[in-house]
Amino acid sequence: MKHLLKLLDMSGEEIIEVLNLADQLKYETKHGIEHHHLKGKCLGMIFEKSSTRTRVSFEVGINQLGGYAVVLASEGSQIGRGEPVQDTARVLSRYVDGIMIRTFEQQEVEDLAKYGSVPVINGLTDFCHPCQVLADLMTIRESKGSFEGLKMCFIGDGNNMMNSLIVGGLKVGMSVSVACPEGYRPPQEILDFANSYDCFELTDDPMQAAKNADVVITDVWTSMGQEDERQKREAAFEGYCIDKNLMAQAKPDAMVQHCLPAHRGEEITEEIFEANAQYIFEEAENRLHAQKAVMVKTMAK
Ligand code: CP
Ligand code: NVA
Repeated sequence: MKHLLKLLDMSGEEIIEVLNLADQLKYETKHGIEHHHLKGKCLGMIFEKSSTRTRVSFEVGINQLGGYAVVLASEGSQIGRGEPVQDTARVLSRYVDGIMIRTFEQQEVEDLAKYGSVPVINGLTDFCHPCQVLADLMTIRESKGSFEGLKMCFIGDGNNMMNSLIVGGLKVGMSVSVACPEGYRPPQEILDFANSYDCFELTDDPMQAAKNADVVITDVWTSMGQEDERQKREAAFEGYCIDKNLMAQAKPDAMVQHCLPAHRGEEITEEIFEANAQYIFEEAENRLHAQKAVMVKTMAK
């Protein structure tokens, strides 16, 4: 695996291989078994948006693998002053062994990989959030035993999370049903991919999407960079909250996931959030293990 730019680039088998390695690394971490697969290697991390989980889990992860991290925020670096990505890519490739980037445009991540000479890992763009969804898939498989026969549903915005969940969910063999209001659907590239599967459903009815679901997932209605649209979005997503009524449509043992941060009372009620806290915080923990697997797969020679 050369880079992790988006799940669309990976086969279902490659995703499963990453999840298997993530499970193994989790087991070793829990049992105090050292795994210095990236001894002495440096991960450069670029943040052009805020982060808690991604920032901490990557830094802890590279340390546990025997390496270390250097963090670059857009403010305080030349990136924030407009230095072209082609140059940043070629410069950083001379110093570090891999780059994790969180930014706005997917094209910036693709260009970093194109012009640089070290592995690039996407830590979230407006288009996708592959690291998060690898952790989500890991959590689903851990909780349900396998992906076979599972229905995953996502209720909310056709954003980075929905895009990656559609691709990841279908590639590992789940049925995927998504509900979003018109005007907030995933981009055509994702719909073209999804529509090649019979087990994909897109609706504007959250109740319909949640019917018989094994896994119910949501995310914020207003993502980073969309703050000016908050009011308009709150109106558009009325009726898309994951609450008791919606969960009554899903299977009785359905689990809920949320990538966090969550806005209780908007996309999810406090009650449903807390009832599923065991899954949601396991999902957050699994960011660490899944990303360690991604770093090993891309950065270990
Ligand atoms: N879920 C997620 O990516 O969290 P952060 O924004 O805190 O990194
Ligand atoms: N959709 C959210 C995910 C945050 C992890 C955002 O882009 O802000």
